[in-house]
Amino acid sequence: MGISAEEFRFVADLIRAEAAIVLDAGKEYLVETRLGPVAHQLGLGTISTLVAELRTRRNPALLTRVVDAMTTNETSFFRDVQPFEHLKRKVFPELIERRRAEKKLSIWCAAASSGQEPYSMAMLLRENFPELAGWRVEFLATDISTQVLAKAREGIYSQLEVNRGLPAPLLVKYFRKHGLEWQVDSSLRSMIQWREFNLASKTFPPMGPFDLIMLRNVMIYFDVPTKRSILGNMRRVLRPDGYLFLGTAETTINVDDNFASDTLHTACYRLKAA
Ligand SMILES: C[S@@+](CC[C@H](N)C(=O)[O-])C[C@H]1O[C@@H](n2cnc3c(N)ncnc32)[C@H](O)[C@@H]1O
Repeated sequence: MGISAEEFRFVADLIRAEAAIVLDAGKEYLVETRLGPVAHQLGLGTISTLVAELRTRRNPALLTRVVDAMTTNETSFFRDVQPFEHLKRKVFPELIERRRAEKKLSIWCAAASSGQEPYSMAMLLRENFPELAGWRVEFLATDISTQVLAKAREGIYSQLEVNRGLPAPLLVKYFRKHGLEWQVDSSLRSMIQWREFNLASKTFPPMGPFDLIMLRNVMIYFDVPTKRSILGNMRRVLRPDGYLFLGTAETTINVDDNFASDTLHTACYRLKAA
C-alpha cells in the first residue's frame, strides 16, 4: 500500500531532523521501498502503522531502524579509482615526508558505509608504504548507520561485493574464505576503529586533528546550509596542511571558499591558508 502525502511529509521531516538527509517530493517511492520491509520485519504490517508508531511512541530503537533504512549505503572497493591514485602518488608521500619527525598519521573516513572505502585505504597503505610499520597510524571510520558499521567491523563481503573494484591479488593477500563469502584478515581489521557518528549532529565532539579526511558521496544528501556547517566542522578538525576528499560529484565551490582544489583529477581539497 502506498504512503499518503502527509505520512511522507512526516517521514521526510523526521529524517531531515535526525540525519539532515533531504527527501524531496517525488521520493515517496524511496520511503515506500525502504520502510515497507522494516514494517514487515517488525510485524507492523504497513508503513502507515509504522508511521503511527513513530508518531506516538518516539521509540528510539524504531527511530534508529528507520534512519538506518533511509540511508543510501552504495559503495565499493577503490571506488572511482582516481582518488586512490591521488592518495598513492601525492597525498600519502607528502604526508609521510612532512610527518617524518613525529611518525604519526591520523585519518578519518567520515561516511564509511560497509567498510569498502577504509579497507581500500588500509590495503593501499600496506601495499605502498611499508615504512609506516613503525608509525602510529590512527584510522577512524564512522557512519550514522549502525547496520553498515556492524558489517564493516566484521569485514565480511559476498563474492559480488569483492568483484566490485577489488584486484584479485589483494583479495588473495588480505581476505580469507568465510563460507561462501570473504573476510578481511584480522591484521587489516585491527588498523581501523569503527564508531557511530552523525555528521549533522548539533554538538560536534572534540576530535582530531586529522591529516586526511574522506567525506565522499555523503554531502549530496544534504542541503547547502548543512553542507556549509559540516565543511566548517571539517576545517576545525583538519590539520592546516591536511587533505579533504569529497565524492566525484561533490565540491566545496559555492559552499565554503576556505578550501582550494588540490588537483584537477579528483575531488581533493586543502585549506587555502596552508
Ligand atoms: C553512498 S555512501 C558512501 C560510502 C563511501 N564514502 C563511498 O564513497 O563509497 C553514504 C554513507 O553516508 C552515510 N550517512 C548519511 N547521512 C549521514 C550522516 N548524517 N552522518 C553520517 N553518515 C551519514 C550513510 O549511512 C552511507 O553509509
